[in-house]
Amino acid sequence: MMETTPLNIPPKSSGYAHMQTLRVLFRSALIGAALLAASASHAALDVGRAKALLSQNACLGCHAVESRVVGPAYKDVAAKYKGGNPVVLGARIKSGGAGKWGEIAMPPQAQLSDADARILAAWILAGCPDQ
Ligand code: HEC
Repeated sequence: MMETTPLNIPPKSSGYAHMQTLRVLFRSALIGAALLAASASHAALDVGRAKALLSQNACLGCHAVESRVVGPAYKDVAAKYKGGNPVVLGARIKSGGAGKWGEIAMPPQAQLSDADARILAAWILAGCPDQ
């Protein structure tokens, strides 16, 4: 029984396909470099994105900038961890937990990507700037 294998692609298009592959590789290398540069600077402060994330993730149901609600005021968090690393605080936002500010636990925010958690943490550590 004879079967045509899908590997037998006519050679006439392969040069072009190769070019396309190179182009895609080159483009992803550029994007990779840009991402690396962005993550290298800890100061990934993006106020607009932080504010959108706060309302999308109901953070403001339990937190306010100036005063304690269910959880601590963000200004108090900023003061406690002054100069802290947004990667570390971002991980704590994702994991939630209790005991640092009282008995009430913060539910885990596992729906956040690491990048978004870091944006939120950077914004809080920066003292919650309006813009
Ligand atoms: C259901 C209420 C609730 C929600 C929703 C909530 N938090 Fe919290 N959060 C808390 C409580 C309570 C604490 C204090 C936990 C403790 O004492 O360790 C806390 C603590 C924190 C801390 C300090 C963590 C530390 O290690 O000291 C940060 C930062 C924080 N929350 C950010 C956020 C962000 C950002 C969101 C939204 C993605 C969010 N929280 C959503 C209740 C909440």
